[in-house]
Amino acid sequence: MGFRSDMGVLWHLLSAKAKSGADHQERLEAFYSGQREAYDSFRKRLLHGRERLMELLPLPAGGGTLIDMGGGTGSNLEALGDKINHLERASVLDLCPSLLHVARERITQRGWTNVDAIHGDATQYQPPEPVDAITFSYSLTMIPDWFESILHAYKILKPGGIIGVVDFYVPRKWPDKDRKSGSGFTRTFWPTWFGYDNVFLSSDHLPFLSRRFDPITVEENRGKVPYMLGMKAPYYIFIGKKPLQA
Ligand SMILES: C[S@@+](CC[C@H](N)C(=O)[O-])C[C@H]1O[C@@H](n2cnc3c(N)ncnc32)[C@H](O)[C@@H]1O
Repeated sequence: MGFRSDMGVLWHLLSAKAKSGADHQERLEAFYSGQREAYDSFRKRLLHGRERLMELLPLPAGGGTLIDMGGGTGSNLEALGDKINHLERASVLDLCPSLLHVARERITQRGWTNVDAIHGDATQYQPPEPVDAITFSYSLTMIPDWFESILHAYKILKPGGIIGVVDFYVPRKWPDKDRKSGSGFTRTFWPTWFGYDNVFLSSDHLPFLSRRFDPITVEENRGKVPYMLGMKAPYYIFIGKKPLQA
């Protein structure tokens, strides 16, 4: 994977045709089907903080269930290391068949018998039982009703269950206490840039998550964007707990 495969990804990022379709699933499929093989290599340099999220994620000792919502190729599960083998079940849920195809190949190659890949919508999927942990890694910004997917995650988590999110965002001009503020350039440039690819950055994810869940870890950072001359886009990590008395 090198410059040539990067050019294929960049074509999809820049082409309007590669992201059109009659509905959300069709648009995702149009965007990702031609870049599914190069996805992991390119996103490794763009989607920062994913490994850190999975490392920090508190999982129940001796079992438990995890759903990675909008989990794409399932690459995040690699970052769990040996912890994955102790899970009762881990699911990669996604609406895009092409990325799920890669996830299924990974599951087979890895021999993960406790992992499955599910085609579904993060705002609606009903697991057989309430789950212990749910993650969203750079998926909220691609889910039009992102607030609905957080509310839905809240519903299907067990009391005391964990939510972990990493994503791009817009730091507010006047943020909550202890949160970072963003310059006018940051607040206008990055939403416009990513919006072209149907990635919608928001200043409301962090406040919304913080009001629904008891925060455990909140980090705000910046990461380099490939081929953008060292420019860094803002991203956050949020880990929180569903209150026991929900
Ligand atoms: C930028 S990718 C991130 C994939 C993966 N989580 C990662 O970190 O590499 C966004 C993912 O969200 C998925 N997605 C978007 N809307 C969705 C929805 N409503 N339900 C499930 N998945 C969705 C896309 O198909 C895509 O796989």
